[in-house]
Amino acid sequence: MSPRHLRPARIEIDASAVVANAATMAALVAPAALCAVVKADGYGHGAVVSALAALDGGASLLAVALVEEGIGLRDAGIDAPVLVLSEPPTEAMDELVGARLETTLYTSEGIDAAATAAMAAGEVLRVHLKVDTGMQRVGARPDDIVGLARAIGDRPSLELASVWTHLAAADEADHEPTKRQLARYHEVLDELDAVGIDVPSCHAANSGRRSPIPTPGSTWCGAASPCSVWRPRTSSPVGSTSAPRCGWWRRSTSPSGSRPAPRSATGSDTRSRPTATWRRWRSAMRTGWPVVWRGPGVRC
Ligand SMILES: Cc1ncc(COP(=O)(O)O)c(C=O)c1O
Repeated sequence: MSPRHLRPARIEIDASAVVANAATMAALVAPAALCAVVKADGYGHGAVVSALAALDGGASLLAVALVEEGIGLRDAGIDAPVLVLSEPPTEAMDELVGARLETTLYTSEGIDAAATAAMAAGEVLRVHLKVDTGMQRVGARPDDIVGLARAIGDRPSLELASVWTHLAAADEADHEPTKRQLARYHEVLDELDAVGIDVPSCHAANSGRRSPIPTPGSTWCGAASPCSVWRPRTSSPVGSTSAPRCGWWRRSTSPSGSRPAPRSATGSDTRSRPTATWRRWRSAMRTGWPVVWRGPGVRC
């Protein structure tokens, strides 16, 4: 046993469950591609194990939060497309390009830095422009998207791969916030259309986006696919390139903590398998003692 494993508790990962869950999700969202989010060390499952299993199950892309996480996947020999979900610091752009990662952008400074790094490496970097439609975490304001998309289009070393957003409350019973976010997202896509900017792909859904809400101009990806929203683009077949970004391949609990597993449009459970088991050794057991002290600072 290595010293790293001396602690009397461990998590056991069932990689075959990750494969099966990814396969269920990939079938559910087809013809859209499945993007498996493996940030935060694959949510504690091990980034590389989770990424390989998700790819085995049918995910086409991977997503991470940090450039370092993407480099870790490359170091492990993983060649699949990897998207960094936040705009990296400008100093990280050279390494991002060197590791052949795709990146999210939402500021002029980020666009400049990414373009400069890609040009220096003689590469064309695929970039995903993120619009904040209400989550208020990262992303550009809807009003700024056309200008930023133009700035990307002006840089020959950048290729606009998608315009995307993230839903803040997709798993909640109240669909109103999600409807408002999607409406804003579609307004942005319409503005881009109106000024002739081609958006090859769009992605909005995470695992919780599981029941269809009709939105003007949107097409749900397959009648029974709860997880994906995409719109047909005039100039490119979007089905193969749009990707819901899902962390649901893991069901140690459920997506993002206590969420229920995704359901199909008909409401049937998509039957995910638990991916992690927590095991611990009993360190001590007390029976029949008079209790005078229950823990630090608590006297009985
Ligand atoms: C931008 C983005 N997309 C998708 C996901 C996956 O979310 P979920 O686990 O709900 O599928 C995350 C996870 O935090 C995320 O940050």
